[in-house]
Order: sequence, then C-alpha cells, then structure tokens
Amino acid sequence: MARKLLPPIGMFKKIGIVTGGGDAPGLNAVIRAVVKTATGEYGAEVLGIENSFEGLLGETKVRELRPADVRGLLPRGGTMLGTRNRGQFVEHTPDGSEIKPESSYHEAIENLSRLRIDGLIIVGGEGTLGIAAEMDRHGIPVVGVPKTIDNDLAGTELTFGFVTALDVVTEALDRLHTTAESHNRVMILEVMGRFTGWIALHSGIAGGADVILIPEIPFSMEKVVEKVRARDLCDSQFSMMVVAEGAREIDGHLIYQDLGDSRHAPRLGGIGFHCRDRIEQMTGKETRCVVLGHLQRGGSPQAFDRMLATNFGACAVRALMSGEHGVMVALHATRIITVPISEAISNVKTVPLDSQLIRTARDIGVSFGAPDEDSYHDRKIH
Ligand code: F6P
Repeated sequence: MARKLLPPIGMFKKIGIVTGGGDAPGLNAVIRAVVKTATGEYGAEVLGIENSFEGLLGETKVRELRPADVRGLLPRGGTMLGTRNRGQFVEHTPDGSEIKPESSYHEAIENLSRLRIDGLIIVGGEGTLGIAAEMDRHGIPVVGVPKTIDNDLAGTELTFGFVTALDVVTEALDRLHTTAESHNRVMILEVMGRFTGWIALHSGIAGGADVILIPEIPFSMEKVVEKVRARDLCDSQFSMMVVAEGAREIDGHLIYQDLGDSRHAPRLGGIGFHCRDRIEQMTGKETRCVVLGHLQRGGSPQAFDRMLATNFGACAVRALMSGEHGVMVALHATRIITVPISEAISNVKTVPLDSQLIRTARDIGVSFGAPDEDSYHDRKIH
C-alpha cells in the first residue's frame, strides 16, 4: 500500500468533495458514504463543491452536506453536485498538448483556505484525477476515488459505474437478439469505450454476441463478414455484433461524429453505422445499427456498484483522516487499498490481449475480426 503520511492525524476538521468528468452511476453513493463516514466517524464537516473544480473559482459554489442532505441518495443516478468535462484547470495548446494553468490552481487554493477546507476527496476518471494530483502537488491533501463506466483507469481492478453499464448493454443485446433472429438480420450495437473495449468485451460475452470489435484489436471487415457468412451456412441466419466507439479497421482511422461545428471537441461515434454499410454491401444482408450512447451512463446504479461506491467513499475518508494523500482508493482482489494517483493516471488500462476472457470468447466462437484470430491469445491460459 502506498502511504504518504501527513502529520498530525486528526487535523481534518472540514473536508471538501468534488465530482468531475462524465457522470457514472454510483457518484451519489460515494457522496453519501463520504458524508456519513466523515461526520459520523470523525465529527468532521463536509462541503460539497459544485460543478467539479469550477465551484472553486470566482464566486465559489459550495454547500455543507449533512447526513440529512444525503438521505435517499444511494439509488439515484448522476451527481447531486453537478459535474463538468472540461474546465479552467486544463488548457490545450495549439499542438494539442495539455497545460495546467497556474492561475486557476492559485485561485482555487486561496478559496479552499478561505473556506477552511483541510483536504479533498476527488471522484473522477483520468482527467479529473490529473487535476487532483496537481492540487495535491500544490499542497492540498487529496484522496481520489476512481470513476468511469469505461473501466479504463489503471491501478484498480474496477471502477464504479462499469457494472451498471454492462447490465444496460446486456439488456439491450438481449432485446436486439430477438428482433435480429426474427428478421434474419445482422444487428450491431455501438457502445462506449473511447480507448478500451472493456464494456464491449464483457457485455458482448454476457449478451451472446457473435462479433466483438474493440479498440485493442484493429479488425478486418473481411473477417467480420466471414463470421456472418459462416453463421448463415449453419442454422443461425442472424448475427449479433457489439462494437466499441473507439474500434477501427486495420489501416482505418477512428470515426468521429459530424458535429458540424469546429467549436466542439471531436466526439467519437459512427463506427457502428460504418460497419452496417460495409456488411450490407459485402453480404447483401439486411443490417441495422443501434447506438446506445448515454443510456449506459444514466440512471440508478445496480447493487454491486452501490456497494463498491459506498466502500470507496468510506475508505477514501479513512485514508485522508489517517494522513494519506496523493493516493487513490482502488479495488484489489476484493479489498480496497490505496495506490498513488500518479499510477492511476500514468496509462490507460486496456484489455490485455492475452487475457483469459479474450481466450474464452474465442473458444466459444466469438470473432474479434482479427486477420489471425489465434495469434493474440496465450494458449497457456486456462
Ligand atoms: O469517459 C466515459 C465516456 O462514457 C466515453 O466512453 C464517451 O466517449 C464519453 O464518456 C462521452 O462523454 P460526453 O458525451 O460527456 O463527452
């Protein structure tokens, strides 16, 4: 366990909580656990900072959170504090690199000291935790909580929100399955996952997909079509496909939504429709595509995510109160530990190509559309 000790233990009389980045089911469960643990176990006060770190700039937007304020919050989706994707704590230079503007950090730190906030619990994904690490470097004790439905944060086995997203995608696949079968169609479901295929892989297996396309394995359309044709020759004249938004063809490029306006940051989306058009051209089979989008992020967390988010929230308070900082709570073999935030943001956690689940998918006949499907998994894995 990474421990960075700050003396003296018990100095935290007032802590702040921030939720940043895209929302995920379970954010409110973390807030509830933080408030209950900090007030009930440590007699500390909790201030909720609104709209991510933006609430620390200008006319600050903070409110005290007491146990009564978090009553009934556990099953509620979204975040009661509001969130922002991009804010004034990260800027992009014309060449695309990121800088962290000192002026925003200084203003936030002055406001934190004026509000007498001794430490922060920061709930977010890679971008938010990057700002968290910077805050900690500027002398504000921070403990991070890992959040993203994509499950792509390093340092933790799971992030909360991921399992709820899997349930949503799996239900969608079940529903698409019956219509695909009735019409003898190819049905494609495009799911979230910018850099990684965790959602596509896990839900594809849970929902019985025949083809799973993930960013980690660039695919060949010929191979995808080969699978569709092979099914047609057997009894099943329909095929189910899950494609992650960040998947791409070999020698192809990522496909972005046409936002018709250069003011917006580029947004992935459209690979499902691209596959639909190519499969129809190549096979003559009727093909349909559904983009599940933000349905994967909204709504109530399921049981496991409520439990994980609650455990993360309570453990984050205990870590902060015991003097740890610059760390993130993380799930390791069913226990919550802490790891340095720097480890979590150092690289994206991609699906290992030699993983057991990839092997299992292959063994039950799933195609990843790879030219040599056998080449990327380890035959020694059971
Ligand atoms: O980071 C999670 C994620 O769900 C990605 O998979 C997706 O590309 C992105 O958020 C979309 O978020 P937004 O519409 O908020 O920009």
